[in-house]
Amino acid sequence: MRNKEANKKGALQPSPKVLVSCRGLDGEDNALVVGYCGNCSYAPPMVMVGIVPTRYSYKMIKESGCFVVNLADKNYQKTFDYLGKVSKRDADKLKEMNVKVEDGKVVNAPILADCPVNIECTVVDSIVTGSHEMFIGRVEYVHADETMVDENGNIDFSKINFM
Ligand SMILES: Cc1cc2nc3c(=O)[nH]c(=O)nc-3n(C[C@H](O)[C@H](O)[C@H](O)COP(=O)(O)O)c2cc1C
Repeated sequence: MRNKEANKKGALQPSPKVLVSCRGLDGEDNALVVGYCGNCSYAPPMVMVGIVPTRYSYKMIKESGCFVVNLADKNYQKTFDYLGKVSKRDADKLKEMNVKVEDGKVVNAPILADCPVNIECTVVDSIVTGSHEMFIGRVEYVHADETMVDENGNIDFSKINFM
C-alpha cells in the first residue's frame, strides 16, 4: 500500500553516479563524483551534471566552459570513493590516487584513462536549480573501450560492471 509520504530529496532512483573531470584556467586538473546527472537531449546530444557551488571543481567548470563525464566500473571503486569524499582544496586527489589522465581530444579537460567511457562536453547553458547548478553539456566526443563498441558505434553498456 502506497499510503506513506516519503522524503522528496533524491526521490528519483536509480540514478547514475559518474566522475566528472575538469581543468582550471591555470591548468590544474580535478575530478569529483556526481550523482545529479543525466542525458537531457538526443538531438543534439546533451548531458547535464549538477555541481554544488562550494565544490572546488565548480569554479573550474564555470570558467573553462567544459568537462568530461567518465563512467566508472567496479575496478575503480577505491578511486571513485576517494574522489567523492576528498576535495582538491585539501589534497591533489588525482596525484594521491595515481589516476591516469589524458588530454581531451576536443575540449580542454582531462579524461580519466582507466574508465571505459569518457564523454567530452562543452557547456552551452547552466541553470541554478537550488542546491546545484546544472551544467548542460553538448557532447563533443565519446571515447569507449573498443571491446564494447559495435560496428555502428553503439556501446554495449552491459559490459560495464557499474558500481
Ligand atoms: C555518491 C556521491 C554523489 C555525489 N553527487 C554530487 C553531485 O551531484 N554534485 C556535487 O557537486 N557533488 C556531489 N558529490 C560530492 C562531491 O563528489 C565531493 O564533495 C567532492 O569531494 C568534491 O570535490 P572537489 O571539491 O575537489 O570538487 C557526490 C558524492 C558522492 C559520494
